[in-house]
Amino acid sequence: MTTQIIDGKQTAKDLRAEIAKEVESIKSKTGKVPGLATVLVGEDPASAVYVRNKNKVCKELGFESFQHTLPAETTESELLDLVESLNANPGVNGILVQLPLPDHIDSNKILNAILPEKDVDGFHPHNVGLLTGGTALLAPCTPAGIIHMLDRYDIPIEGKHAVVIGRSNIVGKPIAMLLLHRNATVTICHSRTKDLPQMAASADILIAAIGRAHFVTADMVKDGAVVIDVGINRVDGKLTGDVDFETVSPKTSYITPVPGGVGPMTIAMLMSNTLKAFKNVNSIS
Ligand code: GUN
Repeated sequence: MTTQIIDGKQTAKDLRAEIAKEVESIKSKTGKVPGLATVLVGEDPASAVYVRNKNKVCKELGFESFQHTLPAETTESELLDLVESLNANPGVNGILVQLPLPDHIDSNKILNAILPEKDVDGFHPHNVGLLTGGTALLAPCTPAGIIHMLDRYDIPIEGKHAVVIGRSNIVGKPIAMLLLHRNATVTICHSRTKDLPQMAASADILIAAIGRAHFVTADMVKDGAVVIDVGINRVDGKLTGDVDFETVSPKTSYITPVPGGVGPMTIAMLMSNTLKAFKNVNSIS
């Protein structure tokens, strides 16, 4: 089997270039640019890196960025006040509250306070409902990025058996919905699934979103399968996916590496969602 490595880094770069071009063109016609607000509470180092990258990409693409860094002791009501002020700010088209939030803050309460039309993470119940109904404008970034990569590589989805391992609200559930809307037959597996290896081995498209390094081994993968690795695990200081890449990749037709696969797509899709939210509110088609 010839294996093709899906280059998420390049795919994300291409998408960012397209977005930058569109933003430039809209700016020359309307004088307006999309605005993204990021909110970071506390000092989690990984979250700080993600948020810094998001703001960097904003500048690179010609977006306006609104950066809010709050101390870990911030109260829930202070954070709600900030969300309300961002909701009311017409220059802010997208609001991203970086997760996880400190334990004393109810994340759902915060996410539910974000105006659905500015919810570029696609986590608000309104947008979750639209996603299920098949009419989402703003779908969660990582799942949307996976679909974008499959499309860029002309990998057919319709009629395929897609097996998703993991049922999180951020990845597992929304990617299952997106694949279903593209007419895949979708199975969602999780920690209580019986015979998970056999289930995985029946997949034409296998999405690994478990959060455990080297979880997917060669025996769990059908010859010629497409394998998408969503895992970001640190093993001895090295970034490692959920798939045992060395043994699995020779069996696959396409596989995403870690790093350089799904990861770079997430921020690119965040920008794409912010541009969509901006165009939607300004009636730009
Ligand atoms: N933390 C990890 N992934 C995400 C994400 O996609 N969005 C937000 N807001 N926080 C995250």
